Amino acid sequence: MSTTAPGATARHYLMCRPTHYTVSYEINPWMHPDRATDTALAVQQWERLRDVYLDLGHEVSFIEPLEGLPDMVYAANGATVVDGIVYSARFRYPERGPEGPAYQKWFADRGYVTHTAEHVNEGEGDILVAGEVLLAGTGFRTTREAHAEIAVLTGHEVVGLELVDPHYYHLDTALAVLSSDPRDAQIAYHPQAFSPASLERLQELFPDALLVEADDAAALGLNAVSDGEHVIVAPAATRFADQLRERGYTPVPVSTTELLKGGGGAKCCTLEIRPVPAPLR
Ligand code: ARG
Repeated sequence: MSTTAPGATARHYLMCRPTHYTVSYEINPWMHPDRATDTALAVQQWERLRDVYLDLGHEVSFIEPLEGLPDMVYAANGATVVDGIVYSARFRYPERGPEGPAYQKWFADRGYVTHTAEHVNEGEGDILVAGEVLLAGTGFRTTREAHAEIAVLTGHEVVGLELVDPHYYHLDTALAVLSSDPRDAQIAYHPQAFSPASLERLQELFPDALLVEADDAAALGLNAVSDGEHVIVAPAATRFADQLRERGYTPVPVSTTELLKGGGGAKCCTLEIRPVPAPLR
């Protein structure tokens, strides 16, 4: 088991300011439309997250928030970008439907070749890159058919993982990729969020994974963003932060409590734009 983090690599992220953020419908167990939300606080927490990325030397791009799409702040759901290939999102619930085309247009307008998904998938919420393989969640939102679609599109092996607890309805609420180094991908996950068969598969593929306990998972600690060294993580996930330190990572606590009312944290607010790989020489 390695106790040295592989090291940071510069990332390119896409974010969407929570200008229109609120909780006006209920599509996951965290959302309670009758509880007040503080949009100004959400914006403040989001700005801090953005500033942390910039301070760490990452590039951040922005998509214009659209009125009437309060969940658009959760940019991770907007698409999946692997090797410069953009696979559009197709949302499960009509409330979020227009976000798919909005994000796809953002990429198309900037010269990316985009692919319109035929099957329901919620972007990086359910499709995580771990080295050469894509880990893909299903059970609540993204379908198995979408897993097959992105496998064909990108040529990467896709490992389907079944989520069983509605609180962890997207894979990125239950599993975090800490290092996407193709020689030594490292992940952390909350075992109880997965079906027995999927858990077995995870154990087989990642015997050294960090196992995250219920309290830290419930603070959406696993909705974390790693650059290979720094891990942006919910401040309440203290045990997870210790586990990260033991493995040589540097936890960077950033509070996203206001966005948690919609069922998301730092990772949900962050879509990684992965470029075309450099040619082998
Ligand atoms: N309210 C949003 C939904 O239920 C939250 C999305 C969080 N995003 C994420 N990547 N897990 O769809």
